Amino acid sequence: MTAPASAAEHARHLRSEIQRHDHAYYVLDAPTIPDAEYDKLFRELQALEQQYPDLLTPDSPTQRVGGRPLPQFAPVRHAVPMLSIRTETDTEASGARAFDARVRKELELRETDKAVEYNAELKFDGLAINLRYEDGVLVQAATRGDGETGEDVTQNVRTVRSIPLRLRGVHPPVLEVRGEVYMSRPDFDRYNERQREAGRPALVNPRNGAAGSIRQLDPSLAAQRPLSFFAYGLGETRGWTPPGTHGEMLDELAHYGLPVCEHRAVVAGAQGLIEFHDRIRALRNELPFDIDGVVYKVNSLALQRRLGFATREPRWAVAHKYAPEEAMTTVEEIFVNVGRTGAITPVARLVPVFVGGVTVANVTLHNEDEVRRKDIRVGDTVIVRRAGDVIPEVVAVVPEKRPILAPEFVMPKKCPVCGSAIEKLEGEAIARCTGELFCPAQRKRALQHFASRHALDIEGLGDKIVDQLVDSGLVKTPADLYRLGLDAVANLERMGEKSAANLLEAVEKSKTTTLARFVYALGIRNVGEATAKDLARHFGSLDALMAADAEALQQVADVGPVVAESIRRFFDERHNTDVVKHLRAAGVHWSEGGPARAAASRIAGRTFVLTGTLPSLSRDDAKELIEVRGGKVSGSVSKKTDYVVAGAEPGSKLEKAQALGVSIIDESQLKELLQ
Ligand code: IVH
Repeated sequence: MTAPASAAEHARHLRSEIQRHDHAYYVLDAPTIPDAEYDKLFRELQALEQQYPDLLTPDSPTQRVGGRPLPQFAPVRHAVPMLSIRTETDTEASGARAFDARVRKELELRETDKAVEYNAELKFDGLAINLRYEDGVLVQAATRGDGETGEDVTQNVRTVRSIPLRLRGVHPPVLEVRGEVYMSRPDFDRYNERQREAGRPALVNPRNGAAGSIRQLDPSLAAQRPLSFFAYGLGETRGWTPPGTHGEMLDELAHYGLPVCEHRAVVAGAQGLIEFHDRIRALRNELPFDIDGVVYKVNSLALQRRLGFATREPRWAVAHKYAPEEAMTTVEEIFVNVGRTGAITPVARLVPVFVGGVTVANVTLHNEDEVRRKDIRVGDTVIVRRAGDVIPEVVAVVPEKRPILAPEFVMPKKCPVCGSAIEKLEGEAIARCTGELFCPAQRKRALQHFASRHALDIEGLGDKIVDQLVDSGLVKTPADLYRLGLDAVANLERMGEKSAANLLEAVEKSKTTTLARFVYALGIRNVGEATAKDLARHFGSLDALMAADAEALQQVADVGPVVAESIRRFFDERHNTDVVKHLRAAGVHWSEGGPARAAASRIAGRTFVLTGTLPSLSRDDAKELIEVRGGKVSGSVSKKTDYVVAGAEPGSKLEKAQALGVSIIDESQLKELLQ
């Protein structure tokens, strides 16, 4: 039905009102109406568009979440290449001086010439995106890719509320804006908390959160991840004369309604850069998002043009990082943690301290030797360091602050959980609880491992639930998982009928697996994912593997006497073979083809290297598809590599493959081989 003029006018009005409120809320952080009022406007517009579909426009706020899952992202060729910037690794003031000196030299300035003006800003830690606006409407969003060609992620970028779907005021006919999509700390924490409550996997860090959602093929999933955006540069523009400086250009973008970070400054010379670097260092922990340093850019666009580019990096910009953060605190206790294979790890409980953007309360001390070497004792004042996403560590003790009574750490003789003896073998750094599956701590870890993503992948069987299942005595071995009843599970804390049913469904689903996953899931010491795959490929069936003696086991690539011994020891234990038997009796199964079947495919025996982001397959999926067909996936390119599978942003592996003349294929060619 064609809409009457009055309806069209009303829809226009509603859209512009909603856009105005969105800008106030998401960009200016200054809400203009109560949420309920906003929702009313939104629903009114939705109803109108439903009644008269011809009123629907691509810049309508109702279109932020919509669209169907894509089979893969379409490539986008950038009109102006998206380059990266050089990183200054000297984190001191001298790093800023070196950049200024380089710029002055390139511009042939003398010492007596005046200071160069810079625009200093933050280096956001997310994913670079190019937004293309035509006649003020967002028409395309693309990732950086290899700088020349990126991926069309328009659907997902539309879900980012602070990105305007229509520019405000008088704007150029064609404007490409570049910036960073990121996830704020509070949004990250809230999202992860919800995930954990639902027994779903949490995000590793905000950067992965942002990159992962933008690369999500299903826009409704992307919409569930709260993302934000900051503009920091330009791509192609038409019909527009940009202002004379980078700083003014950013002001202009802000006028168009784009989010531009307030922490930026026009400064003079090296001294100005150093002051900015210091100022942001002090501010860093209070920022609601992660940064990866600061960026300095020559402010005058005319000078930028004069400086130009060196290979793929502009000479007029540099990223200046910060030294890893350190903080001082005291050790309240040193306790030990019991791992899956009984490994006893000393952990320092600290007076919580804020360092590198997070609060650190527990730090692993790795092993007894490490505690000795650093001489860490209860009561000690220690320096804790955390750099980026790296796990926090105790760097050193401050000796002059040691209290008079500070006893040396001694490894307990008995497991704190089950009371079994703790034993440390000759020449090994790791002490272990000898309780094996009698030890509830090891049992819990073993179950967590069994259910983990690369093992039998039982979604929703989180750590908390495993703890309850073991503590209540419902589950002793992985086989018990397949005997759980709905009522028993529903009665666990924070469970209920629905979650219990979901969990049991996931348990049921896990029964269909692969031999490699099953072998890995057993948690045999020294048998990681790669070895499990090699074993599965070599023996082809579980019975053959279980029957193999040490010598036969060592026929497998990368299996030496130690690994062979661990495998033999595992299958020589009656309680282990019983668990295997019970699992099979419960219906856990896989297809067993044996090595002969694998050899028939075009993949078997070939070595693949994956690089970059593939359009539809995750790295894990691609790896698994190759490996179940008897292929091998290696981490680095060499002359032995048969194929390099290259996706977006492939990096140095692609260059190496080209240099060595290795065949390079894309995802669709890989899929052909897999057929
Ligand atoms: S300017 C030609 N400014 O850092 C200059 N980049 O290696 C192009 N980044 O991929 C980049 N904050 O994702 C620029 N304020 C900022 C930035 C920034 C973060 C990222 C960007 C790019 C990488 C540069």
